[in-house]
Amino acid sequence: MYVSEKEGIHPSKAREHHNAVKDVIVRKALKAAKLKLSDIGIISFSQGPGLPPCLLVGMGKAKELAKKARIPLVGVNHCISHLEIARKLTKAKDPVLLYTSGANTQIIAYEGGKYRIFGETLDQGVGNFIDAFARHMGLGFPGGPKIEQLALKSRNYIELPYVVKGMDVSFSGLLTNLKQKLDSGRYRQEDLAYSLQETIFAMLVEVAERAMAHTDKKELVLGGGVACNARLQEMCRIMCRERRAKFFAPERQFLVDNGLMIAWQGILQKKHWTKDYDAVDIKPYQRTDDVDVDWR
Ligand code: FE2
Repeated sequence: MYVSEKEGIHPSKAREHHNAVKDVIVRKALKAAKLKLSDIGIISFSQGPGLPPCLLVGMGKAKELAKKARIPLVGVNHCISHLEIARKLTKAKDPVLLYTSGANTQIIAYEGGKYRIFGETLDQGVGNFIDAFARHMGLGFPGGPKIEQLALKSRNYIELPYVVKGMDVSFSGLLTNLKQKLDSGRYRQEDLAYSLQETIFAMLVEVAERAMAHTDKKELVLGGGVACNARLQEMCRIMCRERRAKFFAPERQFLVDNGLMIAWQGILQKKHWTKDYDAVDIKPYQRTDDVDVDWR
């Protein structure tokens, strides 16, 4: 396991985990697809952003396979892949993406040749924030689904800090506030879970809606593990209905991180396919708007 109940994801343990499972995963994927390595035409991998120890394992395996099969290799941006797989699998053509996961919280849309970040978290990702509070509650990891279940038991909203700064959101002050409330013993866990969800999802939906208004886009798609939350989806659906926009959520297996989105992004980026394997490297700090979108 690469996560601990207390601390969440640990980079070097995550690397060990990735190393331990990489061969099995490729074998299983080929078997499930009824393909052999010789049937594959291109190898695509996530170049960034992410934890360098983990990205290096992925790239190492990708290079090994590409060299063995003598086929092109391409590195892609993880965040953009969420948006492109949503475009591929839903009817969305030019959407705003609300990308909410453990490490990432961004509102992304296409404008002037790039995927621009219209809003993002100023500190931690929304998923990590939820997990941190769930751990403080003693719920273990991952905390998102447990908080979601707890929240269903309450309708009692407790006032919490609502932190939207311009187009950005922030969670660290809210985390401190929630911990203090829990530790005071004056609040029920389910009320805090409910209030947490109502507050942070309202923040995210507000910023996503403003991005749609600014860019004049009429579609919203979701990406990332937190986007599996039924309440977040409901709030997005209501917001879109009210402004006569369309709302799309890919099915769960393609909302969370998945190999398909990386593969599809690699197919899109044909101009970057290369057999000069040594020239390819990870980009742990690559931002969404660093990438020139030359496939649209
Ligand atoms: Fe992701």
